[in-house]
Amino acid sequence: MPVITEIEDLRRMHKRRTPKMFYDYAESGSWTEQTFRENSSDFDMIRLRQRIAVDMAGRSTKSQMIGEDVAMPVALAPVGLTGMQCADGEIKAARAAEKFGVPFALSTMSICSIEDVADHTTKPFWFQVYTLKDDEFMQRLFDRARAANCSAIVITVDLQIMGQRHKDLKNGLSAPPKFTIASMANLATKIPWGLEMLRTKRRFFGNIVGHAKGVSDPSSLASWTAEAFDPSLDWERIKQFRKMWGGKVILKGILDAEDAKKAVEVGADAIVVSNHGGRQLDGALSSIRILPEVMDAVGDKVEVHLDSGIRSGQDVLKALALGAKGTYIGRAFVNGLGAMGEAGVTKALEIIHKELDVTMALCGERDIANLGKHNLLVPKEFYGDWA
Ligand SMILES: Cc1cc2nc3c(=O)[nH]c(=O)nc-3n(C[C@H](O)[C@H](O)[C@H](O)COP(=O)(O)O)c2cc1C
Repeated sequence: MPVITEIEDLRRMHKRRTPKMFYDYAESGSWTEQTFRENSSDFDMIRLRQRIAVDMAGRSTKSQMIGEDVAMPVALAPVGLTGMQCADGEIKAARAAEKFGVPFALSTMSICSIEDVADHTTKPFWFQVYTLKDDEFMQRLFDRARAANCSAIVITVDLQIMGQRHKDLKNGLSAPPKFTIASMANLATKIPWGLEMLRTKRRFFGNIVGHAKGVSDPSSLASWTAEAFDPSLDWERIKQFRKMWGGKVILKGILDAEDAKKAVEVGADAIVVSNHGGRQLDGALSSIRILPEVMDAVGDKVEVHLDSGIRSGQDVLKALALGAKGTYIGRAFVNGLGAMGEAGVTKALEIIHKELDVTMALCGERDIANLGKHNLLVPKEFYGDWA
């Protein structure tokens, strides 16, 4: 058993254990991957201000996200196909999140269904929806989420049309997958992964197959996905979704101060500054870089969360110190899941928690609520001078 000390260890194990097609699906960004790379490297531009001789006993990372108590303000982001990284992946990740005391957001494009995750957990989780054309299907998703006791809906507003990831096309990753000779050969080498997959019945999109009109089996999924997303999405439509759900709404995928103001106008309970982990508009700014501008525009009006690029507790601290109330991890928990299932997700959360806690201490903070710009050293070029 290797000694696991950082998320990078989990990523390497994930790569070894999981078929290339699914590992690549997680570890890639769109087109040149510039935004994907900068999501992480821009965190590195920010340095931390060390303080000494400050009482650091009795620290706490406890906080709240949308009024819910959290052990640390780090939620598991909605990630499609999580159940292909490891059998029953969404159930395993949700259980790890619940035990750790952080929110879990289930993707519409999950393998395990809303009902299945609810049956295997005891606390409410969040459900993420894409903005789809079919009102009847959307209403049914909201009704199913309500019946499953979900406490918030995350509406993803940055994917009406999909960014292109070269590796997915080359690997034949589609719904259903188109296996190439190379991907079949690779699959054959992933024996523990394959045996677990053979043992589970959860191998297709659980929220869609058997629920969306005309999708009764995996082969009809491809045409459904091509048609389902609504390219005509506007703010009125977002308002309509909010009404259809009737509960707390988190708008995910805001990357511009003007859009953040609009999100406040339509009544979002929280917004997520996110570029979808660099999977949509390649060339867009990293989330951490746009955060200060969004905070200036709406920081006193709505709860602001951030994702994209977080690989450590230090990254979490930097986002919080720049004003975010909460953060999400995508690949960091998927790496844990792909490496070691539920125990791996727990490990990822433990690593991030420890890094966050120790960094807080060395910055001279005991309470996560007191983090602020005074803890950071931010170079002038971080703010940029974009024309
Ligand atoms: C493999 C993968 C699948 C994703 N699927 C979804 C999804 O179904 N819905 C969604 O809103 N975001 C999805 N995202 C974006 C994540 O919710 C989140 O914004 C992103 O992973 C954050 O970046 P990070 O991976 O660098 O932490 C996905 C991300 C990855 C890596």
